[in-house]
Amino acid sequence: MDFKVTPWDVEGLVDYDKLIVEFGTTPLTNELLEKTKELTKSELPLYFRRKFFFSHRDYNLVLKDYEEGKGFFLYTGRGPSGPMHIGHIIPFFATKWLQEKFGVNLYVQITDDEKFLFKPKLTFEETKRWAYENILDIIAVGFDPDKTFIFQDSEFTKIYEMAIPIAKKVNYSMAKAVFGFTDQSKIGMIFYPAIQAAPTFFEKRRSLIPAAIDQDPYWRIQRDFAESLGYYKAAAIHSKFVPGLMGVEGKMSASKPETAIYLTDTPEEAGKKIWKYALTGGQPTLKEQREKGGNPDKCVVFKWLEIFFESDDKALIERYHACKGGELLCGQCKRYLIERVQNFLREHQKRREKAKEEIEKFKYTGELAQEQWNKSIPEALRD
Ligand code: TRP
Repeated sequence: MDFKVTPWDVEGLVDYDKLIVEFGTTPLTNELLEKTKELTKSELPLYFRRKFFFSHRDYNLVLKDYEEGKGFFLYTGRGPSGPMHIGHIIPFFATKWLQEKFGVNLYVQITDDEKFLFKPKLTFEETKRWAYENILDIIAVGFDPDKTFIFQDSEFTKIYEMAIPIAKKVNYSMAKAVFGFTDQSKIGMIFYPAIQAAPTFFEKRRSLIPAAIDQDPYWRIQRDFAESLGYYKAAAIHSKFVPGLMGVEGKMSASKPETAIYLTDTPEEAGKKIWKYALTGGQPTLKEQREKGGNPDKCVVFKWLEIFFESDDKALIERYHACKGGELLCGQCKRYLIERVQNFLREHQKRREKAKEEIEKFKYTGELAQEQWNKSIPEALRD
């Protein structure tokens, strides 16, 4: 394989069809998308229309549960290892759409424990601080405060109660095979998967997890033991990765600041980065560009428009052909993208400021947790 996808690392040009086979997931078919349209009575947003979400587990059963009135709930998360960038936030927009259209609860896990354990250079104080910063970005997406429960592992210690029965179900050889642990892995890392699986048990119905496909190994093990504990196997819809500015391979990485647009970059900074670093599929000279045309399939600017910043399908297709035909120059596309990104950042940052006052409304702690918890713990688990 000339690419690699694990929960910690994405390298190379990912072949998503091969990944579906390797991970044993199912392609997100047009039929399922049509069904989503029908049930939500809505046009699909671009990340579903254009197959940025491309794969799933049991999404068909989620729709069936919804149709039959059993309902479902959403679960997603964020590892607070640094500032969030555009690649991190797109799955949250998809999650918001699903919450709004299906009217369901959403739980968001902020894993300040995970990032402390897995990142040798980060202190616990730092991951906690990033947790706060990242929660602001997540709230800024516009979730429903009455149906959205955000919790930080180091604070929401009640999660331990549910992680324990899970930890008794997974043996080391299994965790080693799925996550690649070695004798050098810290014991906290080995326990951690139980913490990430626990929220799939927060309600006694099916959970649907919208997340990038690198998180799938967690759901794979959850699906092995869920039913034996009296719960549903987690369902998931998987997104592709958003490439960084320096090329369509791999994913945007917070540790390479030139390749990422952070949600807290000023619009000016963001514009400068895109102008300076964005790798396009253009020819070396203007003359060649006019004669041979560019290659939008290799162009990060085009990818970002396709994934998030150009919602008009017709305009996107026209741009594709105009690029290939040599009518469009890279500078023109970059300017167009810069304007879109800057508008997005301005709006996001306004909402992010407001989020500072709203945090308490979103935090999942205290009485509500206790009540839901009591309802969700099955007899089998009480013993
Ligand atoms: N492990 C994820 C990360 O590193 C964080 C996370 C926890 C998560 N629970 C999740 C992501 C559920 C998606 C869905 O970012």
